[in-house]
Amino acid sequence: MSLRCVRCGKTRGIDSGYVCECGGLLEVVHEFPRVDREVFDERLREWGPPWGSGVWRYKELVHPQIRVGHIVSRPEGNTNLYHRPQVSAYTGISQTFMKHEGENPTGSFKDRGMTVAVSQAKESNAKTVVCASTGNTSASVAAYAAQAGIPCVVFIPEGLVAYGKLAQALAYGARVLQVRGNFDQAMQLVREGAQELGYYILNSLNPWRLEGQKTIVFELIHQMGWEPPDWIVVPGGNLGNTAAFGKALRELRQLGLIDKTPRIATVQAEGANPFYRLFHEGHTLQPITPKTIASAINIGNPVNWEKALKSIKETGGVVEQVSDREILEAKAVIDSSGVGCEPASAASVAGARKLLERGVIEKDDEVVCILTGNLLKDPTTTIDFHMGKLYPSERQNKPTPIEASLEDLRRLLAGA
Ligand code: F0G
Repeated sequence: MSLRCVRCGKTRGIDSGYVCECGGLLEVVHEFPRVDREVFDERLREWGPPWGSGVWRYKELVHPQIRVGHIVSRPEGNTNLYHRPQVSAYTGISQTFMKHEGENPTGSFKDRGMTVAVSQAKESNAKTVVCASTGNTSASVAAYAAQAGIPCVVFIPEGLVAYGKLAQALAYGARVLQVRGNFDQAMQLVREGAQELGYYILNSLNPWRLEGQKTIVFELIHQMGWEPPDWIVVPGGNLGNTAAFGKALRELRQLGLIDKTPRIATVQAEGANPFYRLFHEGHTLQPITPKTIASAINIGNPVNWEKALKSIKETGGVVEQVSDREILEAKAVIDSSGVGCEPASAASVAGARKLLERGVIEKDDEVVCILTGNLLKDPTTTIDFHMGKLYPSERQNKPTPIEASLEDLRRLLAGA
């Protein structure tokens, strides 16, 4: 195993940071051991960590070398794949599935990356771990650092993080620094500060995070009986998932575990769409000042864009954008189907609908939308939507005030 720069190709040892001298990000290069699908099937019988984890079940494809005693796992993964008629009717694609990564231990997909990166931090004796975050990464870092017994500092953009996530970071005992600025500025501060202060960064520029996030695709395809879908649709912010999914598919093909490659569709919010612009107009990413209600993906300068672009190109994928309104309407449909998710997650379903309208996805295609975070992460946006504080919507479900009297109840239920 080694780390290789995705820009200049230079290789180095597995413990040599995240960024090359040329500025490119590093990625893990494996010499895979021989591995059969049966090994992964066998481990489905296990409950606890590590083998009962939907990440470590695929250890040979994630981090073959790490000592089992150093693994920090809850366990994570084992997330469900849902099919709901309401959601299929909304996208117009009958085979719309949702893989709910909000079912991970801290309520988002981040745990899949974190178990690997924190285990690596432990193996390499990191003294303090840090991250910048729109919220979910900080919640996950805080929980895994607490479990590993490593002090952690999280940098969050002041006033721009949903309450469920802030509550988690505080509760799990992270040192929380509220940066006066947006996510991109907090990220920059972490990168500058970590070098000087010797902190270990747990953002998705850390290649081990992406090794863990590959397992969303491994588990999904395993769940589908090793028959990949036509499309995997994923929200895009810092573009760690888009990068990881392309790598996962490349490796599954290389290992002969799949013979068909699903196309990746990354969906951004219109107000935070630098990758969309790059895909449609440019050659290199132009950072923007982001603004979207989906605070998790309110990112204007995504660190993983080079890796992510490779994923899109290799899989014949596309990049789409959706408005905040489209995100909230899709979320209301997902929520009222009983599944539920946080705003950013609904960008995937909104994006699938749009890609059908545009004739990119076909109505008979099998499409898996990734729901990246739990409904409870951002209660404020959900309540504001249903109270009609954002815009009028037919899907609004406003609570009704009532006196504590039977008479009032009868009148109300009689529709008076
Ligand atoms: N969905 C949710 C719920 C997220 O929290 C994030 C990223 C994304 C989508 C975007 O994923 O970065 O892989 O493209 N959240 C990060 C954080 C930035 O700090 O929690 P991506």
